[in-house]
Amino acid sequence: MISRETIDRVFETARVEEVIGEFVTLKKSGSSFKGLSPFVDEKSPSFMVSPVKGIWKDFSTGKGGNAISFLMEHEHYSYPEAIRYLADKYNIAIEETEQTDEQKEAADERESMYLVSKYAQDYFHNTMLNTQKGKAIGLSYFKERGFTNEMIETFQLGYCLDDWTAFTDTALKNGYDLQYLESTGLTIVKEGGKQFDRFKGRVMFPIHSMSGRVLGFGGRILTSDKKAAKYLNSPESDIYHKSKILYGLYQAKKTISKEDNCYLVEGYTDVISMYQKGITNVVASSGTALTPDQIRLVKRLTPNMTVLFDGDAAGLRASVRGIDLILEQGMNVKVVTFPDGDDPDSFSKKKSTEELKEYLENNQQDFISFKVSLLLEEAKNDPIKKAGLIRDIVMSISKIPDSIKQEVYIQECARLMDISETVLFNELAQMLDKQARDAERKPSARPRMTIASSNKPTNSSSGGDVPDDAAFKEMMMAQEGGMSASKAKQAKQGGPALKKINTLDLYEREIIKILLLYGNHEVTFIDWVEDHDDRGKVIMVKEEFVNTVANELYLQLQDDEIEFSNPLFQKIYKELSHQINQEEKLVLDHLTSHQDQEIASEVTNILMDDEHYTLSDWESKEIEVTQKTDVLQKLVQDAILNLRRVLIELKVKELMQEVGVEEKRVEALQDVMNYTQLKTLLYEKLHRVL
Ligand code: CTP
Ligand code: MN
Repeated sequence: MISRETIDRVFETARVEEVIGEFVTLKKSGSSFKGLSPFVDEKSPSFMVSPVKGIWKDFSTGKGGNAISFLMEHEHYSYPEAIRYLADKYNIAIEETEQTDEQKEAADERESMYLVSKYAQDYFHNTMLNTQKGKAIGLSYFKERGFTNEMIETFQLGYCLDDWTAFTDTALKNGYDLQYLESTGLTIVKEGGKQFDRFKGRVMFPIHSMSGRVLGFGGRILTSDKKAAKYLNSPESDIYHKSKILYGLYQAKKTISKEDNCYLVEGYTDVISMYQKGITNVVASSGTALTPDQIRLVKRLTPNMTVLFDGDAAGLRASVRGIDLILEQGMNVKVVTFPDGDDPDSFSKKKSTEELKEYLENNQQDFISFKVSLLLEEAKNDPIKKAGLIRDIVMSISKIPDSIKQEVYIQECARLMDISETVLFNELAQMLDKQARDAERKPSARPRMTIASSNKPTNSSSGGDVPDDAAFKEMMMAQEGGMSASKAKQAKQGGPALKKINTLDLYEREIIKILLLYGNHEVTFIDWVEDHDDRGKVIMVKEEFVNTVANELYLQLQDDEIEFSNPLFQKIYKELSHQINQEEKLVLDHLTSHQDQEIASEVTNILMDDEHYTLSDWESKEIEVTQKTDVLQKLVQDAILNLRRVLIELKVKELMQEVGVEEKRVEALQDVMNYTQLKTLLYEKLHRVL
């Protein structure tokens, strides 16, 4: 593991604008920089970098974060890969910690295996391009197959001489250890110590990790020897796990995320031929059924996958089964088949780029409909087969995690199979019921929320039902509070934010936002406390006191025993309250560079909501800021009071249900009355402060 000190040093040193500047052209704009989004094609800049806050935000995709998360989003690095990249960029020595001797040894071993694999890639590549035999045999093979020099470079293709030990000897001479040549499978060591090159006489396809490290090889034989395997692959090892690798992913990752789709083919040559024709978002499963690990690799880049099937029908049926797995991962699957006898490699050779793109576009079929029509063909006049088919299809549909999608598919299938939707829904309900029962054994953690030591409302997530939702949203937007401008825009356009906005979430986010933006401000607060006048009558007296916004919010939330119901806000608040208790001031760097990407990203979003306004010509920003500070105390009080109000309304709603139950009625009614009184008091307070 990389030591905390190293990570801290990387964060201290890395300038967000410098890091991003290598990938995006940035122009100064006030205290920030702006540029064109690197994630979508656009004409006017919606990408902002704030050097002061050390964060960035892409307003067209909603992505945002710090320098590290930019590298993770844009270069698809893992967290440690991003740290290593920055350490390298800024010449920071990497300290590794918490490794046992064994772990260190394993890490060293893997490192040595990577090194020898990289060496082998270069060796095979150079042998092919620069030696007599390499050119005459390896290079001419690829040329015959129509691969351009550019593809040979992009995929670092190579050739292993048809000599028993040419590669092994050279590698040993250059100081590479036999141990690693053997553990990577590049060299086969026979009993008695005789060594030879595993890939002798084969053209070489290096296989890369997502970040471009050489993990292994596929080697294709050049003769049509029926006894030898056409392809030979590196054996499983500490660095090569066939089930976790997709061929071509390193070369394809950028376009996959930009086009928001991934084409899946079977073989090495399918990938290269498609790539050469300009379809660069393509990866291969290397001849085997997809694994969940492989699907997850793609899912980091896009939720959409298009599977390209060869023309032969036998293989088709076999591969169709594996696709349920892709659905299960919540991905959208489309299917394209090729004419009989063609695979993506041979087909793309025959077509121009335009024709190929057109073919893919016009022949893509939704997976479920594809499966229905494929299986329906066999089951046409056989009722028993048809019944089996229905179960089969509904099983596929039950794997889809999104219930709205499920419903759409049921309707579509009913139409295609000419049976009633009810039959399919019944079948689906039964399957889901069974799956739920199977899953019951693993209890899921549910968010906790208490108010004044009462229990969590049963209909917790239905905060959206509180009547003045719309009014609240308007108010929030007017004072650029709760809902971010980009979210508001999304909602208008019918984007994801449209799905029932949870009022409770909005108020919770408002409190987090106030803490993040104004937590350290000192403010004079007003409260109304009960007192008695000369004649002993109860009166409300105005009291003033000074506190920081963070402390005041913390105390008030604690007084009411309010916990956040949204798990993300809960996490952020936990971090903040820890700081409130331990430190003099809130320091936000910890949060924007938090290892938990969810935290880092949401905090960044909140901090950047403000920044959005500098994208438009809002020149009165300074005035705006002072006004904000002026109304801070009102902002804080309102946020708390509103949150309490919503919680009480939820509680009352829950109690009202209990009123309907005979045995609970009396107690529930009493509680409702108490809560309603409390609510009235709150309203009074709200109005007094207003
Ligand atoms: N494959 C393999 N071992 C084999 C055969 C195939 O690992 N003995 C994998 C390879 O990754 C190959 C893929 O399965 O790319 C698809 O196999 P196939 O269609 O036979 O090969 P092509 O890629 O079409 O190769 P070529 O066009 O060179 O015949
Ligand atoms: Mn082929």
